[in-house]
Amino acid sequence: MSREMLVEMAKNNIAHGDAGTIPQPDEILKVPAANYYDETRWQQEMKQVFKRMPLMMAMTAEVKHPGDYKAMNAGGVPVLISRTESGAVKAFVNMCSHRGAQIMDEGCGNTHRFTCPYHAWSYNVEGDLIGVYAPKDFGDVDKSQYGLTELPCLEKAGLIWVTIDPNSTLDIDLFLSGYDELLSHFGFEDWHLFASQRVEGPNWKIAYDGYMDLYHLPILHKNTFGPDFPNQAIYYSWGPHQRVAGPMKGLKEMLGDDDAKWPTELLVAGVWTIFPHVSIAGFDGGGRAVMISQLFPGETPGTSYTIQNYLMEKEPPDEASRKAALDQFDFLRYVVQEEDYATGLKQQKALETGAKDHVLFGRNEEGGHNFHRWVDTILDTSDEDLPKLFKTG
Ligand code: FES
Ligand SMILES: [Fe+2]
Repeated sequence: MSREMLVEMAKNNIAHGDAGTIPQPDEILKVPAANYYDETRWQQEMKQVFKRMPLMMAMTAEVKHPGDYKAMNAGGVPVLISRTESGAVKAFVNMCSHRGAQIMDEGCGNTHRFTCPYHAWSYNVEGDLIGVYAPKDFGDVDKSQYGLTELPCLEKAGLIWVTIDPNSTLDIDLFLSGYDELLSHFGFEDWHLFASQRVEGPNWKIAYDGYMDLYHLPILHKNTFGPDFPNQAIYYSWGPHQRVAGPMKGLKEMLGDDDAKWPTELLVAGVWTIFPHVSIAGFDGGGRAVMISQLFPGETPGTSYTIQNYLMEKEPPDEASRKAALDQFDFLRYVVQEEDYATGLKQQKALETGAKDHVLFGRNEEGGHNFHRWVDTILDTSDEDLPKLFKTG
């Protein structure tokens, strides 16, 4: 079913490529400039978007085996993700039940138990409290009541979503709106994480706008991707999640008539964004790869950071492919840090002057229309009505 959808999208891209057209919304969209710097607005986004929406926090490749774990911060919440003995994935607040210390340092590893560095209380990988240090001195504790606080968590398509507010009632499957089925055609559960790195950026929405924007490619990236890079985009949505693909001129000849034989690799080309903060873009450096960029808000409206993950279909088999993968990864850091985010940080400063009332998203920037409308809608929706915004795919 979802492969048919991929084929349909490819046919649509081909038709637009041949006709030299793109689908466009009727109007240019105005977005208030203050949305990028206003403190109150930003606090609302943290609370209503980042706390209530599931976030794509980890890749299966990072926690493949029982006992594998990943500790990280998201929206100010320390999170611990673990692969249990039964092979399921669980997520917890990375906080000890004794007096609240953070248990594991940020990073990935493998362990049988999580031991708190403060007074050595320990938990198994299922999150149960299994050891209290010096129990005779401490006094009686009902261990069954003092496990780690579990967070809603779902693993699909080789990716792991976690909701960082344990009280959020939005079902993760519902939120995905069937998008995970499309993503499953990559087969990420068997891919290999080659490397990750962190890049500092401006307001999370300024940073994220760039991932849905092909309009800027031959201009801002004229010295890296090159001035001839195609910059027209076709957007497809599943709930708030969007795929960005280019109209594919000449692709029909490449693919042939029998769509059953069209390679999946070509069918999933382009950029896949996962609302509200992830972009997946295909590359070929040292072998087939994607850059999975996870954006997180910083501590102020004007800051964010992005974890860039270079996920490869296969581990590079030799030194030459390893070197090619490293070069590609470094090139992508350069493009994002020195071109996209360097521009975004200056854009942030300019917007903060308040000299402009609004910014514009053109009829060729439909991804920005969809994204900003979704953020606005979510901010206007109560907890109770939130599930009504989504429908399963
Ligand atoms: S805070 Fe963790 S053992 Fe005391
Ligand atoms: Fe860019």
